[in-house]
Amino acid sequence: PNAPALVSFPDTDALAHSLAAFILKAQKDSLDKKGRFTIALSGGSLPKMLKGLVDNPSVKWDKWQVFYVDERVVPLDHPDSNHLACTTHLFSKVPIPAENIHPIDPTLLNDLEELSDAYEKDLIREFAQKDAARFPIFDLILLGMGPDGHTASLFPGHELLTEEDRWVAYLDDSPKPPPKRITFTYPVINHALRVVFVAAGKEKVDTLSNILDHPEAGLPAARVKPAHPGQLYWFVDDAAAEKVQYP
Ligand code: 6PG
Repeated sequence: PNAPALVSFPDTDALAHSLAAFILKAQKDSLDKKGRFTIALSGGSLPKMLKGLVDNPSVKWDKWQVFYVDERVVPLDHPDSNHLACTTHLFSKVPIPAENIHPIDPTLLNDLEELSDAYEKDLIREFAQKDAARFPIFDLILLGMGPDGHTASLFPGHELLTEEDRWVAYLDDSPKPPPKRITFTYPVINHALRVVFVAAGKEKVDTLSNILDHPEAGLPAARVKPAHPGQLYWFVDDAAAEKVQYP
């Protein structure tokens, strides 16, 4: 894989501004090639970082297909829901058609296997015929990174780190609450054309340097290595990047 590109900003406003410009460039390239834009979003502080897309006339919302990298198995209006966070910070403020957003099926919350199968089927409907590959090829996947080095709902030492077949997997033992989640697997993340980590704040300082300077330690975020021609980017703030030696 190509070496990760690292860009650092003095504050989160500058980061959000540049992230919006990056997303628009990815959107343009994707629309020029195939007339649609497929993107997967994470929770945590990421939805807030998308504020540069609000009131932005260059966003072609009707061409977006939005999925979630991971989701907590809770109702769609529950405070823990990543879909709720994205709706609050972004979708409620922009003219995106409801059918272009792909939340989990809230009628399946009691059966993790059915829930993750249904989400995988939703991905297959969007991707299988269109990009003939064994895994979906997202135009852009946006990830966060926890202080323990997790990304998506892929946690240190967890058996899902070695999942090679499924597109969407479930867990009921997340070390970070809530315990029940579904998550994209590495093969999906690592087939994307662009993967962007967003990490800000001094609580990330040691983890970020571990991941970029010692990827061989194998923290979950360090295992994100998009296959050629995919490219990995880190959008961070100076506080998080303080100890990083890379490149
Ligand atoms: C979760 C959180 C988590 C979060 C990271 C990064 O699923 O428990 O969403 O994955 O994204 O811990 O957190 P911040 O983006 O808030 O720093």
